[in-house]
Amino acid sequence: MIMGITENFKDLLLILVKNNKFLSPFYIKKAFSALFYALFGSRRASRHGPLRLQIEITDLCNFDCVMCDRHNLKKIRTLNHSISYKKFKVLVEEIKPLYLTLNGLGEPLLNKELFKFLKLCNEKRITTSIPSNMSLMNEENINKLIENLPSILTFSFHAPEPSLFNSITLSKSFQQSVDNFEKLLSLLKNTSKHIDIRILCVLQATNLEQYNAMFEYLKKWDLLDSFRLEPVFDFVPYQNVVPSKEKVAKVLQSLNEELKKTKKEEKRTFLNNWKEKLLELYERTHLKNEAPCLTPWISTYITATGKVLPCCYLTNEKYVMGNINQNSFLDIWNGTKYQNFRSSLIHSRKNIEECYRCYWNDMHRVKLYRLLMLGYSRWNSVI
Ligand SMILES: C[S@@+](CC[C@H](N)C(=O)[O-])C[C@H]1O[C@@H](n2cnc3c(N)ncnc32)[C@H](O)[C@@H]1O
Ligand code: SF4
Ligand code: SF4
Repeated sequence: MIMGITENFKDLLLILVKNNKFLSPFYIKKAFSALFYALFGSRRASRHGPLRLQIEITDLCNFDCVMCDRHNLKKIRTLNHSISYKKFKVLVEEIKPLYLTLNGLGEPLLNKELFKFLKLCNEKRITTSIPSNMSLMNEENINKLIENLPSILTFSFHAPEPSLFNSITLSKSFQQSVDNFEKLLSLLKNTSKHIDIRILCVLQATNLEQYNAMFEYLKKWDLLDSFRLEPVFDFVPYQNVVPSKEKVAKVLQSLNEELKKTKKEEKRTFLNNWKEKLLELYERTHLKNEAPCLTPWISTYITATGKVLPCCYLTNEKYVMGNINQNSFLDIWNGTKYQNFRSSLIHSRKNIEECYRCYWNDMHRVKLYRLLMLGYSRWNSVI
């Protein structure tokens, strides 16, 4: 609970510090009205649009990670689309997000205009985040990136063992990705500009036991505090990326043994975090989640083909709220489809099977933000 609240404060702090325009009357109004509609649990959302925007700036990728939802997406549409600068600018100017994630199911560096997008966001003082597989972060791209840094850059690093990294990503790029990343770290040291570098590892069937080797890499990069371990989301069940309960239980046993032998506090903290995520994975297998989800009131997802989805877990395109190539975003945001989707979620997550199985949980956010509503929230009965 305390952890959850601390994380939420960190999110807010990042936006406040990086995004000093937040202090303008318009953005204060926008933030309060988004939270008000989310907590009130209304079918409508703020007329000023979402606080967070996620744009799939391209659906191209040079990797083929076993756990990635692109495997499903390939069955729905051809994956060869990119958002143009013109369209990106229209969206950013219409939505005026405080926080913008420049990726969806694709590798952001494959959109040739990425650095122009970042330049625009920095001019508008928008907090930005990009995850990357790093294989294309060559010297030329590093230099362009340093000119136009995002607020957060995440290296998706799923295994420190080269053959395992390559078998998860179905690539041969382990060395390339690591070399590029280390070059980036060394060049960043020579700049006074600020960037938050993070490492993200998707915890899945094959890398459960990589904790010792991962710790060594993070220590070498001095990024222990910037590590995020993400239990795999079951997009592609046929790929066996979700480990069996028996397998998780076995790894938990060896991890407990390792903890008994470990004296150093930083290693213990790291191992305990790994253990927590293993337990989360263990519990997730037959999840039926009734917790509040505020996402459809505060965030939105736009695909490389212009479709508007409530969030990044609904990329199966069963719940398409509209298309920005046909309507303005703000018309879609409070259009009938979005309102009906929110209404289903307000009554019960059970109404939307994907939401019922999704692990997203905004309980801590509700507890924190309802202080603004003198303790009231639509979700009080489920928290
Ligand atoms: C879809 S990728 C797109 C950006 C970029 N290509 C990358 O891999 O960093 C965004 C993030 O989702 C993570 N991801 C992919 N499949 C996932 C899954 N099944 N469960 C949880 N995270 C996943 C990736 O590791 C990455 O950090
Ligand atoms: S690199 Fe990213 S987008 Fe590409 S397949 Fe892997 S997770 Fe998916
Ligand atoms: S419950 Fe999950 S899938 Fe449903 S809108 Fe929220 S984050 Fe998306």
